[in-house]
Amino acid sequence: MTNLGILGVGHLAGYCVKGLRNGGDQRPIMLSSRGREMARQLASECGCSIVDSNQLLVDQCDIILLAVRPAHLDELLQTINFRPGQTVISVIAGVSLKQLRQHPELRQTELVRALPSTSAEVNAGPIPLFPSNPIAEGLFAPLGQVVTLSSEELFDTALAHACLHGWSYFLIQALIDWSAEQGMDPTTARQMVAHSIGSAITFAEANPKLSYKEIGDSIATEGTFTQKGIQQIESGNGIQSWIDAMESIK
Ligand SMILES: NC(=O)c1ccc[n+]([C@@H]2O[C@H](COP(=O)([O-])OP(=O)(O)OC[C@H]3O[C@@H](n4cnc5c(N)ncnc54)[C@H](OP(=O)(O)O)[C@@H]3O)[C@@H](O)[C@H]2O)c1
Repeated sequence: MTNLGILGVGHLAGYCVKGLRNGGDQRPIMLSSRGREMARQLASECGCSIVDSNQLLVDQCDIILLAVRPAHLDELLQTINFRPGQTVISVIAGVSLKQLRQHPELRQTELVRALPSTSAEVNAGPIPLFPSNPIAEGLFAPLGQVVTLSSEELFDTALAHACLHGWSYFLIQALIDWSAEQGMDPTTARQMVAHSIGSAITFAEANPKLSYKEIGDSIATEGTFTQKGIQQIESGNGIQSWIDAMESIK
C-alpha cells in the first residue's frame, strides 16, 4: 500500500487523517512537524509518525498532500525537491494547476487538486478532484464521494459547494436557535431541524426521477403553510441570497 506524507498539519489534515482511519485505511502516514499540537494528536490517536524535515518526508513518501495555507506555499516549496512522477495532491483552495506549476519543483510531478470538507472526518461529503488520478481517487475514496470534474473550471465551481457545506451549519444553527426561543429544549430543537432538512435530502435522493422543485411543489400546494413560508422566504430574497453567495465565490 502506498504511504502518505502531509505537508501542513492543521485543520484539514486533522479531519482527513481521522477520516482515513475511521474508514479503515491503515497506510503509513507521515506528518511534517509544524502545527505541533495537531501533529502530536494525530500521531498518538491515528498512529502517524512525525518527520522533522520536510525533505525527508518527501523522500520517504509515495503521495504528498500539500495542505498549507496559500500564503505559506512559496516558503514551503523553496525548501523541498520532489521526485519526477511523484503524486502531489494540493488541497490549497483557489491556487490553480498553472500557478502550482510556476514552481519548478512541481513541474515534473503528477499534480492533482482536491477539496475535502470537514465531514470527511466521518466519511461523508463530496470530494471534488481534478484531473482524474487513480492514486488520488483511491486515497480519498474512504472519505466520502470522490467527484472527478472534467475541467479545472468546474473544479473551481466546486469551491462554492465546499463553501455551501460550511454555510449550512450557520443556517441550521439559526433555525435551531429560533426553535429553542419558542421554548423547545436544545436537543429536541436540534433533532427537529436536522431531521427536517436531512430527511428531505434522503427522500429526494430515494426518488432521483423527481427534481427537488417537483417534490417542493407537490408539498407547497395552494393554501398550505408550506406555500405561505416559501413565499415569505422568496419575497425576502432568501433563496436568491444563497445563489448570490455561490456567485461571490467565483
Ligand atoms: N480548513 C478547511 O476546512 C479547508 C477546506 C478546504 C481546503 N482547505 C485548504 O487547506 C489548506 C490548509 O488549511 P487549514 O485550515 O488546515 O490551515 P491551518 O489549520 O492553518 O494549517 C496549516 C498548517 O500548515 C503549517 N505550515 C505552514 N508552513 C509550513 C511549512 N513550511 N512546512 C510545514 N508546515 C507548514 C502550519 O504550521 P504553523 O501553524 O506553524 O504555521 C499549519 O499547521 C489551505 O490552503 C486551505 O485553502 C482547508
